[in-house]
This record gives sequence, structure tokens and C-alpha cells, in this order.
Amino acid sequence: MPGDDPRDGPVLVVDFGAQYAQLIARRVREAHVYSEIVPHTATAAELAARRPAGVILSGGPKSVNEMPAPSIDPAVYDLGVPILGICYGAQLLTQQLGGTVDRTGRGEYGRTPLTVTGASPLFSDWPELCEVWMSHGDAITVVPAGFVATASSPDAPVAALYDPDRAIFGVQFHPEVVHTEHGRDLLERFLYDICHCPPSWTHTSIIESQVAAVQAQVGSSPVLCALSGGVDSAVAAAVVHKAIGEQLTCVYVDTGLMRANESEQVEETFRRQFHIDLVHVKAADRFFEALAGVTDPETKRKIIGELFIRIFEEVARDLVVEKGNLDEGPEDEPAGYLVQGTLYPDVIESGSGTAATIKSHHNVGGLPDDLAFDLVEPLRLLFKDEVRAVGEELGLPHDIVWRQPFPGPGLAVRIVGEVTSERASILRAADAIVIEEIRKAGLYRDLWQSFAVLPAVRTVGVMGDGRTYAYPVVIRAVTSDDAMTADWARLPYDLLERLSSRIINEVEGVNRVALDITSKPPGTIEWE
Ligand code: XMP
Repeated sequence: MPGDDPRDGPVLVVDFGAQYAQLIARRVREAHVYSEIVPHTATAAELAARRPAGVILSGGPKSVNEMPAPSIDPAVYDLGVPILGICYGAQLLTQQLGGTVDRTGRGEYGRTPLTVTGASPLFSDWPELCEVWMSHGDAITVVPAGFVATASSPDAPVAALYDPDRAIFGVQFHPEVVHTEHGRDLLERFLYDICHCPPSWTHTSIIESQVAAVQAQVGSSPVLCALSGGVDSAVAAAVVHKAIGEQLTCVYVDTGLMRANESEQVEETFRRQFHIDLVHVKAADRFFEALAGVTDPETKRKIIGELFIRIFEEVARDLVVEKGNLDEGPEDEPAGYLVQGTLYPDVIESGSGTAATIKSHHNVGGLPDDLAFDLVEPLRLLFKDEVRAVGEELGLPHDIVWRQPFPGPGLAVRIVGEVTSERASILRAADAIVIEEIRKAGLYRDLWQSFAVLPAVRTVGVMGDGRTYAYPVVIRAVTSDDAMTADWARLPYDLLERLSSRIINEVEGVNRVALDITSKPPGTIEWE
């Protein structure tokens, strides 16, 4: 809630493209200061309306000397709000305030020695010489009027600059990356000493504010949440439950395409540990029946998505009638609320700042119009690491909080060819071994995803005295930051050996194990 202080709002990180802003915003939050990302097209008046405690101009993929290069409303420099420009942001403020940025022909990329050459409140904890991370082709050569240069590196004569009167700072290096020694100190000096932000953004405060927001939004209406077993829906449900208790009903649809023990764990956690009203729909037979004879990947996805919605709709109608009886109200009145595990990166990427439409790849896609839900999105301000921390704080099991991503259509996108109950069982058993061994090897959290795939071929083998003709299982393990690109993980040979021998010995119907060594692109992470 805004108070009397005109600067009690967030630290705003201005985005000039290519996700530089996200890492800075996360680092600010790690210093317990709330930050939000805004597009560079926002006007100074729009920024001022947010009552920012400070503004950080992020790096960007372009050069300020390129046309057109992304810019910012220059009136932002007159708002009386402290500003820190990082890399591209430093060059932009230099250029906009009358200094010079030149294409020197000598860029710096990677670790670079930096010498502190002048007093700056941002460098109070810094030694005179240290190592920073640079990534620039252009260099600031002349500082604007009122500024002093406070650091240099071999190819950046002005590696840091500062206007004491207006509290405007620029640094050519990246304080947000771990390779910059003392980078965290610099951000903390800016946030605490210059912007005077209290370190009050903690996991407890996040939970408190989201609980209050959910209570204010839903009043006494019934709220539904589709649990998938994944971390986002689990944490969203836990936050909403803390806010409104029995008004929340969770629906878990077991499609028969879940990982081993997933259904039991959802039951154990939500019904027994949290005492949440959980409707567990055991719908495996319906899914396998609908999938019989289908081999085309997109058709499979469509069948699963549509059946999921139909089942969710059946449950939702019953519950709305039973709990809220609201569907007999005026036509434009919502039937209740639906919890959605939207995260902050989805909100930023949607560009509009509102993620009102349900993402098509989510389990619950395109609910029928006559069952109009309003969305409750308790995680829409949070990054994934904050969601995990909140989950831990709320007492969710590690297994759920640190779970690798799992696709909405479940094991079906890892079963090439027809999806049958038998083939799903084979894959589930092999997958459980992959997860168990990867965990034992201490690699589970380092990998973006690691799982088993069941191709549609069978090959000849020999076991004991007999010839076998059975399926191979393919091991897929990838490292990635965001699933947009991925590399195949270099798993240790002894781990691969254990996986191979355990899968072949323990999973009936499998006589061969192969390893997928395809990066993304050209491959996708999932096989279908
Ligand atoms: P691909 O296979 O496209 O996957 O490289 C990228 C990421 O998205 C996940 N994925 C899905 N998630 N519904 C989902 O909810 C889907 O249909 C789906 N397909 C892929 C995949 O697991 C990976 O993390």
C-alpha cells in the first residue's frame, strides 16, 4: 500500500531486450527488495506513477550507436529517483545526458580486470583492483556534464561513472553475474544506501501479501484448483489454502499417464498433510480408451487435452452446485474462481502485464464459456526460485518443490506410437529407475529434465538361454536454463551402466537401453 513516501514502490528494472532484465530483477529480490520489470517504452510519468524507490536500466543486445536502438524517455533522469545503468543502460544514459559512446574496435568479453579510480558510494566495499564480467563492443569515452568517472578497465576508459547531485550511476560491467567479484555488494549499496530500500521482501512477507490478496479477491466464493503434481500448481494451491481454507477444492485427475507414485504423493500431501478438500478422479481407463489406436502425436495431445477438460468440467459443475450454488445466479456472474500457477516470466512475456488467458499448453485449457471462472494467480509476481522457496516455507515436501518439469499430457508424449495401459506401465517403471538413480548420483537438481522414452520399435536380444523380442528404452537427460534451448547431459558412464542393467533386469518388456545425445535445437526435449 502506498504511504506518504513518494518512493515506497518497487525498484523498477527497465528491459531493453534479451532477458538481461530478469536476472537483475532476481538479484534485487535476492537482496530482499521487491523489483519489477517494465518495458523501455514506458514513459517517465508511467514510471513515476509506480512510486519507484530506484530505477535500473538493464543491459541489452544492441549498441546505442545502432539505429534504431531501444531508448527511454529522457524525462526519467529528472524524476529525482536514483538510477543505475548497467552495460547498455550505462551507455544509454551517457549518450542521452550528453556524453560520448564510441565504437573503439576493442570490445571486452568475459572476465576483465577493473581498477577503481575515483570515490563512489557504490564502490565503498571494493578493493582498488578486482575482476568483473564484461560484454561490450562500444565504450564510454566522455562522461556527461556533472558526472565523474570512477573506474576503468583496459579497454573501457570509463568503466563506471556517477553524478553525485542526481544519484545517477552507470557501470559498464555486469554486477548481476556471479563472475563479477563484489557484484552483489555493489547492488546492495545501490539498494540500501542510495535508494534507502529496507530489506523487507522475504518469503514470509511474500506469503503474507499473497494470502491477503487472495482473501480480498475471492471473498467467500468457492475456489477450484487443478493439481498436476508439479511445483507451480502445488505451491499455488498451498498459498490459496492458507488464505481461504475450506473454500478451496483441489481436483487431481489421474490420467494413467503420471509418473510412478505421483498420485499417492498428491493424496498424501494435500489430503493427509494439508487437509485440503481433494477430489481425486481416477480416469485412466477413459484416457486409454480414447487413445486406443492413435499414433499421431498432435492427435494424442488433443485427445488428452479435451478429455481432461471434459472431466474437469464435470467435477467443477458438481462442486459449484454443491458448494456455491452460484450457477443459478445472473448469467454474467462468475461460477467461482480457478487457481492458476502463472509465474512472473509468463506475465512479462505476455507483454500486457496481465495473463488473463489460460495458456493453451496447460492442463486446463479453454474451459467452456458457460462455466466462467475468474482466475486467481497467487504466483504471478514470482520467479521460479521464489515459488520453490515459498513452497518450502509452506511445508510442501522437497520432492514436490524440487520436481523437474513434467509435460501436461504426461507420459503420452514419451510413448511413441500407441499409448496403452501396458506400454504406460513399462515406461513408468523405467522412468522411476531413471529418476531414482539420477537422484542417488546427486544430479537431479542439476539437470533440467531426466526421464525415459519408449519408442515404437522392438528389437532382438538374448537373455539367459532365450531370444527376446522387446522394446528399447531411451534415456533422455538435458541441461537447460529455460527449455528454449538444451544440451544433452554428459552422464557418468557408471551411472549409465547402472541404468542399463537395472532397467533391463527389472522392467519386463525391455531388452535394450539407448541414450539420446541430441541437443535442442535440432531436437526437442520431449520425443513427441
Ligand atoms: P520441447 O519438447 O518442446 O519441450 O523441447 C520444452 C519444455 O516444455 C515441456 N512440454 C510441455 N509442457 N504441455 C506441457 O505442459 C505439453 O504439451 C508440453 N510439451 C513439452 C517439456 O517437458 C519441456 O520442459
